[in-house]
Amino acid sequence: MITLKNEEQLAKMRSAGHLLHDVLCAAREFIRPDITTADINAFVDEKIRKAGAIPTEFGYEGYPASICASIDDEVVHGIPSDVVILKEGQIISIDVTLMLDGWQVDSCFTAPVGKISEEKQRLIRVTEECFWHGAAAAVHGARIGDIGYAVQSHAEKNGYNSVRALTGHGIGRKMHEDPSVPNYGVPGRGVRLKQGMTICVEPMIAMGHYAVHQLDDGWTIVTNDHMPAAHYEHTIAIRGDGLPEILTLPNAKWGEI
Ligand code: MF3
Ligand code: CO
Ligand code: CO
Repeated sequence: MITLKNEEQLAKMRSAGHLLHDVLCAAREFIRPDITTADINAFVDEKIRKAGAIPTEFGYEGYPASICASIDDEVVHGIPSDVVILKEGQIISIDVTLMLDGWQVDSCFTAPVGKISEEKQRLIRVTEECFWHGAAAAVHGARIGDIGYAVQSHAEKNGYNSVRALTGHGIGRKMHEDPSVPNYGVPGRGVRLKQGMTICVEPMIAMGHYAVHQLDDGWTIVTNDHMPAAHYEHTIAIRGDGLPEILTLPNAKWGEI
């Protein structure tokens, strides 16, 4: 079911979003070689709880941690572990969902571990650009396919591929609501976007082929060709006119897209 949010509800999602932004900024600073993904999980979990919020990935369909930490060929849903030690040259995505005052927000970034190759830097940059192209298409009256097309075409123009097996989603009182927000699509197709809809736009971009599979741990999604992938996500609110509000990024600068 698609739920539309009123101004009061959006204000609560904004507060949750700004908290998540603070948490993710701190997590980004925390990332360095020789720490474990369990260390990042503990750091983020504590920050969220100290702020009076709930890390809602923990226990979600049995998920055992408060963050997803996905390295290199892991696209999403990497489970934090005290035996996974970050190494210089890797890229890691940290994907976190939290609930504050009953309202959920979801955001993810991909960051370098120490010094990384120019190819990986470009993958991270283009993945973020894919988000901005997708978000810019998320205006009142447009359709879901416009977002997917914007993401996919920017990825492909840069020689990458947009992962199809997983999608963005609506969000609100629940982490995952309708509509599904694919990172590929045809302009003018799909659900029409309306003021008050809150959705997560989350490009997952592969340096190689977009095909993925799940590991035996029941969660981690990796690329079939084991080429690296990056992930970038924000929770956004569709407005009556103009560009959407990025709820998980205060003072968003749209830049040139
Ligand atoms: N934050 C994820 C998303 O973007 C969901 C994570 S799955 C979980 O939709 F199991 F970790 F919760
Ligand atoms: Co997420
Ligand atoms: Co999401």
